[in-house]
Amino acid sequence: MTERLDGRTILVTGANGGLGQEFVRLGLARGARRVYAAARTPRAWEDARVVPITLDLNDAASVAAAAATATDVDLLVNNAATAPPNAGTVLTVDDETAHAIFETNYFGTVRVTRAFAPVLAANGGGSILNVLSLSAWTPIPTAYAASKAAAWSATNAVRAELAPQGTAVTGLMVGLIDTAMSSDWKMPKMSPASVVEQAYDGVAHGAFEVLADEETRTVKGKLSDRAEDLNAYIAAWMAGSAQR
Ligand SMILES: NC(=O)c1ccc[n+]([C@@H]2O[C@H](COP(=O)([O-])OP(=O)(O)OC[C@H]3O[C@@H](n4cnc5c(N)ncnc54)[C@H](OP(=O)(O)O)[C@@H]3O)[C@@H](O)[C@H]2O)c1
Repeated sequence: MTERLDGRTILVTGANGGLGQEFVRLGLARGARRVYAAARTPRAWEDARVVPITLDLNDAASVAAAAATATDVDLLVNNAATAPPNAGTVLTVDDETAHAIFETNYFGTVRVTRAFAPVLAANGGGSILNVLSLSAWTPIPTAYAASKAAAWSATNAVRAELAPQGTAVTGLMVGLIDTAMSSDWKMPKMSPASVVEQAYDGVAHGAFEVLADEETRTVKGKLSDRAEDLNAYIAAWMAGSAQR
């Protein structure tokens, strides 16, 4: 499937690289009339349909300014997140780092959503796509995973909260993607383009959830298993020998 996004106006957070730049590129390829490429330090783009815009998830003034500028947005892609390397585990991470992870991945994502909800309402309801992570569903012991679990919960809450204004909310669940964020993980990874293609198809269909790789689809199927079994499956997968 390659559903069209003709005439739509998209804002992508964290647009400068990785998955974000694919959301920009493939949004244009599917017919978006304009894509706001939001970043802490915006860069130049060659396509006139791309509007670079400053947006730091952790700076309320910058979020408000972006929402006041990009008043034609009807698809918000909450893509930006942080996963500091060598941050340690839930128990060993230092407080400052753990707070920074949650500040961006949970509070920042919610902050942007809150600011753009009225914009989406004014433009007919529109859509929100939240880039989450398979780690939200698995016993991976990092503050990043915990922050994505919180963001997953918020995604479901916001879907219910914004339904009356006609805003569709899609959560993108995905395992490893070949970007800078996953460079320390020596495991098979999805291409950013493949993930974005599936995500945009999900948005076009108003899907609640997009499961973008085989591992995520497998884990989704195991969520109703005993927690002990899911835990054992993930441990085997992490060791590189998961049995499907
Ligand atoms: N890579 C994976 O394996 C993987 C797997 C599952 C889910 N994801 C999710 O995919 C999304 C995109 O990540 P990626 O893989 O493309 O990694 P990435 O290349 O590290 O991109 C993350 C982006 O987020 C931006 N960002 C971080 N903090 C920000 C803030 N406070 N305000 C605004 N922007 C901020 C970064 O901007 P700067 O350029 O300014 O640093 C960067 O552009 C994230 O939500 C991530 O959690 C990734």
